[in-house]
Amino acid sequence: MTKACVDNIKVLIIPKIKDPRGNLAVIEKDIVPFKIKRVYYLFDIPSGSYRGGHAHKELSQFVIALSGSFEVVLKDREKTKRVILNSPTKGLLITPGIWRELENFSSGAVCLVVASDIYKEEDYIRDFKEFVDYNK
Ligand code: TYD
Repeated sequence: MTKACVDNIKVLIIPKIKDPRGNLAVIEKDIVPFKIKRVYYLFDIPSGSYRGGHAHKELSQFVIALSGSFEVVLKDREKTKRVILNSPTKGLLITPGIWRELENFSSGAVCLVVASDIYKEEDYIRDFKEFVDYNK
């Protein structure tokens, strides 16, 4: 894993095609710097729910609040950063080696995740101490 830093984690604007019939937003290769291999989403999230609580060794993810809002807590070995996602035209690009926690979901929130690879449990680090050690 390359040395990861929360300062490099950015919110990117997703281009929008405005239309009186309803807006349309597109995520394609100009937006995310990886080949998209998987898309999944969290929905029907009970209030007070907490998701994430892990890091990935290789996986990059682009996280969007398709509906409603939620907060993403990002951690590297030293720093913590909190990002609020509340727009379907903004996405958080989380590069490998960053611990993430998702919380404070609004009612009706839908969290879309666009990922650089298929699901691989072996890419997860689910223990925070292991994450800190892994990054040394
Ligand atoms: P996990 O990634 O831990 O969820 P979150 O970070 O949102 O809290 O995944 C929860 C469960 O779902 C876990 O048992 C693995 C499984 N899962 C898949 O089978 N495929 C997937 O693409 C994802 C993201 C999870």
